[in-house]
Amino acid sequence: MILDLSIDALLTTTRTIRKRLDLERPVERGVIEECLDLALQAPNGSNHQQWRWIVLDDRAIIERAAAIYRAAMDQYSADIAAGREQYLTGGSRAEQIGESVAHLKANLHRVPALLVPTLADRFGVHRKGTSTTYHDASQWGSILPAVWNFMLALRSRGVGSAWTTIHLLREREMAELLGIPYETHVQAGLFPIAYTIGTQFRRAARQPVSEVLSYNGW
Ligand SMILES: Cc1cc2nc3c(=O)[nH]c(=O)nc-3n(C[C@H](O)[C@H](O)[C@H](O)COP(=O)(O)O)c2cc1C
Repeated sequence: MILDLSIDALLTTTRTIRKRLDLERPVERGVIEECLDLALQAPNGSNHQQWRWIVLDDRAIIERAAAIYRAAMDQYSADIAAGREQYLTGGSRAEQIGESVAHLKANLHRVPALLVPTLADRFGVHRKGTSTTYHDASQWGSILPAVWNFMLALRSRGVGSAWTTIHLLREREMAELLGIPYETHVQAGLFPIAYTIGTQFRRAARQPVSEVLSYNGW
């Protein structure tokens, strides 16, 4: 079923869904495939399309993937506690995010499906640690627009997701679990897929355009 959403409503209400993922209702493979078909319309460098999309809908594999996510999140929390990581610290907004993040961590093994988008290391520099801004922008720009298309397509069908990257602290473990050739392929993140509980979502709080826009120079 396609929701009755204007394009602007779709663009402003496709949120990170953690607490409102319906963990009881399966998501049909047909719906995921339809959304992926739309996702693949995204731009990508030289139209190489060196992506592979791995959907996990087997409970045993989902549970193992979720365990990697939890371990990575624990590692991340330990880094925060030790003052090695500043990302989530600093004020009440961080606490709000923290509660919701913890909920996803505790329930990720229960989601109907997970997506791991992968891309070939096109320039062969990523694992060597010699990539430049050009390489990085071209690499990630060749998969992330499609991932976002996928999330928009899900939303249009009443399905939600959450953009997550924390498991990449343990990317190799996920590669081993799923048989991804680690030396030559990178993972873009881990995306739960579930119908949302209710379909009404709000616009996010963001900086006003006037604070971030300039014309003809920095
Ligand atoms: C690159 C990136 C990485 C993220 N990683 C995680 C993550 O590992 N775990 C998580 O719960 N949320 C993660 N998020 C979700 C963000 O916290 C979320 O997008 C942000 O709080 C804004 O909320 P919104 O997407 O609903 O507007 C990530 C988002 C992005 C774009």
